[in-house]
Formats: sequence, C-alpha cells, structure tokens
Amino acid sequence: MNDSLTPMSGGEIPLEQPLSILCVDDEDNILKALNRLFRREPFRVLTANSGEEGLEILRSTNNIGLILSDQRMPGMNGTTFLQSATALAPDTPRLILTGYADVHAAIEAINQGRACRFLTKPWDDDEVRQAVRDELRRYLMVQENSRLNALVARQNEELAEINSRLEEKVRRQTTEIRRQYDETLTLNRRLKNNYDAIILSFSDLMELRHHQIRSHSRSVSACAGLIARLAGADEELCEQIRVAALLHDIGKIGISDRLLAMAPSDMAPGELREYQLHSVRGQTAIDSIEELREVGLLVRHHHEAYDGGGYPDALAGERIPLGSRVIALANHIANAVSRFRGEDALDLAIRETSGRMGTLLDPRLAGWVERSTRETFATVPRGVGFTQAELAPQDLTPGMILSRDLLSGSRVLLLQEGTRLGESELTALQRTAKNDPFHSGVGVLIPQGTPKETNFTFH
Ligand SMILES: [Fe+2]
Repeated sequence: MNDSLTPMSGGEIPLEQPLSILCVDDEDNILKALNRLFRREPFRVLTANSGEEGLEILRSTNNIGLILSDQRMPGMNGTTFLQSATALAPDTPRLILTGYADVHAAIEAINQGRACRFLTKPWDDDEVRQAVRDELRRYLMVQENSRLNALVARQNEELAEINSRLEEKVRRQTTEIRRQYDETLTLNRRLKNNYDAIILSFSDLMELRHHQIRSHSRSVSACAGLIARLAGADEELCEQIRVAALLHDIGKIGISDRLLAMAPSDMAPGELREYQLHSVRGQTAIDSIEELREVGLLVRHHHEAYDGGGYPDALAGERIPLGSRVIALANHIANAVSRFRGEDALDLAIRETSGRMGTLLDPRLAGWVERSTRETFATVPRGVGFTQAELAPQDLTPGMILSRDLLSGSRVLLLQEGTRLGESELTALQRTAKNDPFHSGVGVLIPQGTPKETNFTFH
C-alpha cells in the first residue's frame, strides 16, 4: 500500500501551498483527537467548531485537500455544511463522521452533501488515517490531471502560434524564391535574346554574302536538329547543333564567287586549300563570342570524315565531336537532295548518303538518314524538276518560284519565299528594282525546260 501522498503514477506533486485538511466538529475533544491522529501526516490540520466557521476557512484558504465533518452539530448540520462547501471547493473530497446507528444521516450526507464516504464514531485510527490518505491521493490526482490538461492546452496554443509563425515564414520565403526565380527567368530570357540576336546577325551576314549559303544552312540546321533529337541528344546539345549547322559555312563569306561556284574536284590545289580553310575561318569568326565557343568547335570539324580522310584536322571516328558528325551527315543529305531531280529524288539522296556510311559519315547515325531526309525536304517541289538560280529582275519570267524572301534595297519585304511569279508580280518587282535596287539577284526555282539554270552547288 502506498502511504505517502503521491499520485498513483508516482512522483511528488508540486503544490503551490502546503496541503491542508479541514476538520469540523462542535466538540473540542474530537478536534483535538483528530489533530493527534494526523500529527505525523504530511499535511496541515485546520479545525472549525461549526459549519459556518468551516465555510469561512474554506473561503479564505487555498489548497484544502479534504474536508472531514461531523454530522450532528448544533445550527448547521454536516449535510448542509457539505452542500455549501461543494460550491466553494468542488474538487475537494468530503468525508462525514456519524454515530454507528445513524445510517439515515450517513445516506443524507452522501446524497445531498455529496460526501464520498462516511466514517463512524468511535473510529478506528488506522481506518481513518487510511481513508484520509486515499482521498487526499485522489484529490492530488485530480489536481495533477487539471494541471496537465491546462499545460497541454497552453502548449497547444503555443504550438498553434509557432505553426502560424512558421506558415508566415514559409509564405515569405516562397514569395522570395518565386521573385528570384522570376528574376532569373527574365535574365535568362534577356541572355537568350542577346544570343538569338547574335545568331541572327551572322545569318544576315551570310545572306548579304550569298543568299544560297543561308538557305542551304537553314536546311542543314533543320535536318541536323532532327537527327540530333532522334539520336537522343539532350535539348542543350540539340540547340548547339542547330546553331552550329546554321553557321557551319559562315567561313565562306571570305571566298570569291568564282570559287564558291566551283566543285572542289574542279579546283586547283591552291584553290582547294583556300576553299578548305572555310571551316577554320568559320570557327575563328565566332570564337571570340564566349557563348558560341562550343558551336565554333562543331563548325571547325564539320568537314572531318569518319575514316579520318577529312579536314582540317583529319580526325577519325569518335574523336570528331558528335555535333560535327551530325552536321556532316545533314550537310551531305542537303547536298545530295539538291543534286537529284524527279519524283524519286529523295530515295536517290537517301541511297547515296547511306553508301557513305563508315567512310565519310558516322555509321551509327545511319538509322536516322531516311526519316530526317524525308521530314526535312518533303516540301521541296519534286513533281517537276526545278533548277535553282539567282537572276537579275529583268531576266525573271512568269512561272518561276521565289526560293527565298525577296527584299528591296532598303530591306523591305516585297514577296515571300514560295511565291509563284505572275505578270503582275513581275511588273511591280521590276518597277521597285529600278527605284530601290536590290543588293543581290532574285533567288528562284526554275521549272525544268526553262532555259536559264545555275551551276551553283554546295560542298
Ligand atoms: Fe562547309
């Protein structure tokens, strides 16, 4: 049996004030006997000679852990006293002392005075001490329970407050992260715009030199981008390859018209050396722009052959950058497509390209030749044979198709690529050419059978 005043769960309960019990009896000798009985107990004994005095002590004293009251008292009896005590100390257990035969009074005290137990007079000391200890322990447990409930409620409030502060902090941080992300996006967009502007300037530069360099480069760029994507290159490498393919012949800007119009097989050794420098010159032209340095490397090696027989560095196999191998393939396809005429032109171009795998071209890219050729060049008119040419405005005739956008001398767009020239377009175009002379000839596709042709080719 646990005789000390600790809760069942163990551990002393911290009390703000010393624990007391209140004994009420009209007989002094009973009160003295109770005082003696509890002399060694760890609580204070307060005594009152009447119910009224007992209520007064309850009003003025905190932490009374138990009330022990006689039933038979003059004036206010025990039941009435306990009823009034309930309002002042609702949690405090109440014990009633009655005579042996007074069962009726005991029942009344329990029912109306809410006494939790009754003890008989004369009492057994041990029984009374034990009863008081048990009830005090229960009282302390109720107190501890209330204290813990209050503590949990307070901690819940603190937790709610912390959560609310945390949510606010997370919200502020999220806003800040979003702001920084937006700033980065804007910065990236600005950088990308600058980058695009540089590419466009180079492309325009090529257009000024010779429009067919640019239209060839556009086809190679589209074709190389598609091959790179099909080969599983990531988006960054695909973009690098598209840009390098667009600029791969930029080194031809410094080559004379005469050399540009010749096939390499027809060139004298000195001419060939001069011509072959275009890949190195292309790299040099863009190398000073940091963002284009990798692109420049791809440009340098676009004429390397897979078997090591290319230029400028005679690299072989995988020592040639993958992007350059992809551009070499796209370049070859574009040249092959431009050489063949008729309905089966694409089939012939595909067959011719496939025959160069392992020697000129990377054989591991062979699987994508057919699809990239058909998708990139499907729109080139092939039902009738066409010849590309660049003509002076006065040499144009009805039925010719513009192979590129037509710009006036002051670079105003007059007619779009793909326009079939009729009499009215020719009249307007020739009149404009007189007032605002064009920088170069007009690029056209001439239906087969028309006498004017060009021998301009790409290599
Ligand atoms: Fe080239």
